[in-house]
Amino acid sequence: MNHALFQSDRQDWETPQRLFDKLDAEFHFTHDVCALPKNAKCRSYFTPREDGLLQDWKGVCWMNPPYGKEIEKWMQKAFFESTRGVTVVCLVPARTDTEWWHKYALQGEIRFLRGRLKFQGADATAPFPSAVVVFRDQWWKRRQSDDRRQSAAKRRKEATV
Ligand SMILES: C[S@@+](CC[C@H](N)C(=O)[O-])C[C@H]1O[C@@H](n2cnc3c(N)ncnc32)[C@H](O)[C@@H]1O
Repeated sequence: MNHALFQSDRQDWETPQRLFDKLDAEFHFTHDVCALPKNAKCRSYFTPREDGLLQDWKGVCWMNPPYGKEIEKWMQKAFFESTRGVTVVCLVPARTDTEWWHKYALQGEIRFLRGRLKFQGADATAPFPSAVVVFRDQWWKRRQSDDRRQSAAKRRKEATV
């Protein structure tokens, strides 16, 4: 078993190029939202210096996030950005028992990958299954929640007069 893949200190497991190319042919990615110059999959990308979590995302984004505890923040951000009109395709471990999976992954289109991935540069295949989660442009969800917020504010105002 490859114990290195369980370590949360190694978070830069690079997407296998063949998998990325296949998805890129379908989605035509414009930005890699978490990367380093040496592993970026698109010409436009954010590194820890810009902090992808603090940026506004655009277009069609590729996200293979750090696999540590902060994966929930990345999934939350990916889902949120889809409500702003961005499509985000995420490569994540298929941890179907986690909070983030239930809160966010289940809101996307899930493609479970057959077999185990051999991440670029790894000696062995990963000891966990992977999935691709697609959050398509869901701008209308933001509109719905904005409408709900406005109606609630209106009701509160009416109740106080
Ligand atoms: C699993 S690797 C993915 C690398 C590459 N994008 C790919 O698909 O192969 C995650 C990358 O996110 C970068 N990263 C970590 N925190 C980040 C942050 N706050 N903003 C942008 N990138 C970050 C890491 O340096 C690492 O290179």
